[in-house]
Amino acid sequence: MKNNPLPRLDTEACIREQILPHCRLNPGEVWVDAKSGHRVGCIDATDANAVTSMMQGTQASLAIHDPPYNLVAFDVRNTDEYINWCRRWLANTLSALACDSSLYIWLGADQQNSFQPLPEFMILMREFPFKSRSFITMRNQRGYGTQKNWMAIRQELLYYTRGNAYFDIQAEYTDIPKVLRGYYKEIGDKRQENLERSKSEFIRAGNVWVDIQQVFYRMEENVSGCYAQKPLKCIERIIEASAPQGSCVLDLFAHSGTTLLACERLGRTCFTADIDPVFCEIAIRRLEHFRDTGHLGWQNAHAFEKELPNLSASIAENIPLPFPEIEEETIQGSLF
Ligand SMILES: C[S@@+](CC[C@H](N)C(=O)[O-])C[C@H]1O[C@@H](n2cnc3c(N)ncnc32)[C@H](O)[C@@H]1O
Repeated sequence: MKNNPLPRLDTEACIREQILPHCRLNPGEVWVDAKSGHRVGCIDATDANAVTSMMQGTQASLAIHDPPYNLVAFDVRNTDEYINWCRRWLANTLSALACDSSLYIWLGADQQNSFQPLPEFMILMREFPFKSRSFITMRNQRGYGTQKNWMAIRQELLYYTRGNAYFDIQAEYTDIPKVLRGYYKEIGDKRQENLERSKSEFIRAGNVWVDIQQVFYRMEENVSGCYAQKPLKCIERIIEASAPQGSCVLDLFAHSGTTLLACERLGRTCFTADIDPVFCEIAIRRLEHFRDTGHLGWQNAHAFEKELPNLSASIAENIPLPFPEIEEETIQGSLF
């Protein structure tokens, strides 16, 4: 494994400075992909004109948003201020979505501070014409916490729909075989065992996702420099379940470009944005790198190696994990 990672790019000012001249987008600009029609905008998600201009009249069938959570690894502001900020990008999302569409939002809950902003965000969602559908929890292998509390290993995912939204149940099946036996039901005059009745030999993910490995530096999909990357598997599950083939998926918080890459792999068009030109560039390069090599990320190398071969600040083992007081649980492998 190549050992040439980048540190967190939001906090390492001198590394950012070296990368910025290699970023193709300036604030306000939108990159249009000549091959598949994806778009990456260097725009503020709360800027209504910028979002409208990126959409160019296209209506998305699905939005997947993963905003900064207002806790631990991100800048923290007053909860009211954070909620007002969310209200603005939610309004822009509503305008960009088709009448029949789905909206998924990743969020955190600060256990040290009344679980903000999760309850406030759920109440905020009542202002919008979305119907709540599911409250999903994804289990992380790596968590944060102290010896005096339960380790925080959950990721919250809220699912809403509007109108008659698409849903493909096939996407819900995991690759975990069904093993539970001994449950019977009378069907007509026949007594059937659980497995005889089931539509698949695999279990459904349900609203607690335990089968997804968190991204870390040994995984091919790792994008070093990014500090909040979601696993491709969970984003692909959402897209396959809630966006018809060929439709448009919106993600206003691109970061490492996971939604962009997932859309490319699954035959959907992605319109994505990030306020930071560095993350826009990384997202675009990740797509290009995939097209050139078939790789999902750079593992423990990075996206700017051609121009800046000596950029990395330290070796992987010395790079602090993104959360303070972190404890690694089963970082070397998935739970299964
Ligand atoms: C949690 S990360 C998203 C992670 C992404 N799902 C992935 O898998 O890589 C949040 C991103 O939102 C971006 N961001 C923060 N404020 C923004 C805003 N007002 N408009 C657009 N992007 C913003 C940050 O630069 C950061 O890259």
